[in-house]
Amino acid sequence: MNTNSIPAFTDFVHRFVPASAPEGISPSTLPTLLLLHGTGGNENDLLDLGRMLVPGAALLSPRGKVLENGMSRFFRRLAEGVFDVEDLQRRTHELADFVQAASEAYHFDATNVIAIGYSNGANIAASMLLLRPGVLRGAILLRPMVPFVLDELPDLATTPVFIGAGRADPIVPAKQTEQLIQLLQQAGATVTAHWLNVGHGLSHEDIRGARSWLDQLQR
Ligand code: MLT
Repeated sequence: MNTNSIPAFTDFVHRFVPASAPEGISPSTLPTLLLLHGTGGNENDLLDLGRMLVPGAALLSPRGKVLENGMSRFFRRLAEGVFDVEDLQRRTHELADFVQAASEAYHFDATNVIAIGYSNGANIAASMLLLRPGVLRGAILLRPMVPFVLDELPDLATTPVFIGAGRADPIVPAKQTEQLIQLLQQAGATVTAHWLNVGHGLSHEDIRGARSWLDQLQR
């Protein structure tokens, strides 16, 4: 397996796993998965999830640069669930630039990148949908919140979004998820909401739901 950390083009610590499509599938038809970990995670956390979701797809997995009591995150927060929006927006642009630079450095198709974010990673992925439409072809947001509300919404008519939500999530109230669904729909996105009777942690059912959504997308 060919993986890398800290190439010259970026100061994001990350892993890149090139596509290795299973027999009969051309690697060029598969998306590249942008894997965005949760608070306290790192660039290794979601590699197995990515492999399960789209076997053989290239994986790009950066580590969030913010440290909160030693835990890596993608942006600062003022308290749990209260975001430093200025920092979030700046770091969203930085991450989007990283994805574009990585597509050149690693020769993957910049128009076929699907984000898979969990918790804090889902929140910056949602922010990227709003601020940098076009960078992502689609997104799987697992336990996301509303990153911020914009006066002017982007056009997400061609950007499908899967949301994996837990009805018993103590960090993300169901109302937040519903607001995010509404916001993305107002921007024109086709949103698939997958509600489970679970908490903030991921379950096998999340993976099953996300996988069948991705299968439909690739048809
Ligand atoms: C966040 O700060 O992004 C959310 O509260 C989720 C979390 O990381 O706990």
